Amino acid sequence: MTVFVTGGAGFIGGNFIHYHLAQHPEDRVVCIDKLTYAGNLTTLSPVMDNPNFLFCKLDICDREGVFGLFEAEKPDTVINFAAESHVDRSIEDPGIFLQTNIIGTATMMDACRAFGNVRYHQVSTDEVYGDLPLDRPDLFFTEKTPIHTSSPYSSSKAGADLLVQAYHRTYGLPITISRCSNNYGPYQFPEKLIPLIIANCLNNQPLPVYGEGLNVRDWLYVEDHCKAIDLIVRKGRIGEVYNVGGHNEMRNIDIVKLIIHDLRKSEDLITFVADRKGHDLRYAIDPTKIHNELGWLPETKFQDGIKKTIAWYLENRNWWEEIISGEYQNYYQKMYANG
Ligand code: NAD
Ligand code: TYD
Repeated sequence: MTVFVTGGAGFIGGNFIHYHLAQHPEDRVVCIDKLTYAGNLTTLSPVMDNPNFLFCKLDICDREGVFGLFEAEKPDTVINFAAESHVDRSIEDPGIFLQTNIIGTATMMDACRAFGNVRYHQVSTDEVYGDLPLDRPDLFFTEKTPIHTSSPYSSSKAGADLLVQAYHRTYGLPITISRCSNNYGPYQFPEKLIPLIIANCLNNQPLPVYGEGLNVRDWLYVEDHCKAIDLIVRKGRIGEVYNVGGHNEMRNIDIVKLIIHDLRKSEDLITFVADRKGHDLRYAIDPTKIHNELGWLPETKFQDGIKKTIAWYLENRNWWEEIISGEYQNYYQKMYANG
């Protein structure tokens, strides 16, 4: 089987490629990635020499390039991770989010249609459901929760999801969609909360917490997400949406304090900064469907996953120090200037 993985030089796509090649060594994996600021070839260096792996630097919006690669490689399955993924950047500049997340998704599905109705999986997010109130811990996102987005990022992902469902209904494209909660683990770009706090702690820099730090996210170790996607692609029902999440809700401030204590730093590093515009209050997934239908359950407990993640950032300082010393500095200075 030949699998196209888009966005494989990013956080989750990169972890997925490592997982897939280890679990299914008989498969050929072709990574398509534009290598934006968030893409990093070092993430893929452990598999670059694998004869069953091919890397292609390509924009998923580049129709000619994408169709050419389908012609050459004849994929059986496409898993679309490629996206602009950071909410704060989408608030500053939505345009590229619409381009990659919506037009790119349509381009990949057009190619799937043109080359024999190739099996297509869309990696989506729980952010398409908007947020839940902080004072209703009994409420969770199910697959039936209406789409109700808050940010340009989540709106672009919701637009893509609707298109994916339309391609199934209109053209019979064999699709599935997964909507996962916040991931953490190795190779996450240090603009996202957990790696940003780890990196700043290690550099004794202020730890920016938006608002009062009371917003809640449902954290899942990235490998558990990879396992869920693999299951859905192989055994999921065509045309279906599956929510993925591990009942692990935490307030941002508690995550920050946990990392501080693990690294034996001081809470004095915490700096409360201006809140994110339109900041979603709480995300929480009900994973009953994927559990009942596919037997999926998260395997890594947060206490273990966060320790593994901190250890990875300690052991792989080169990976993230190279990132934060480059172009990323300009973004960081601008983003946190008026804290
Ligand atoms: P990321 O930003 O770390 O990586 C995105 C990758 O896509 C990068 O390698 C980038 O170079 C590539 N890319 C961007 N635009 C491209 C284009 N036009 N053509 C080809 N490649 C392009 O993102 P991530 O955190 O790994 O997220 C992966 C997917 O999972 C996204 O679709 C995201 O919406 C979804 N998701 C993320 C989370 C999370 O917590 N990070 C949770 C749920 C769902
Ligand atoms: P983030 O990692 O950007 O993921 P998402 O917005 O997709 O949930 O942020 C996670 C939470 O942490 C979110 O509530 C915003 C908050 N946050 C901070 O408080 N400070 C920061 O510097 C960042 C990047 C995020």
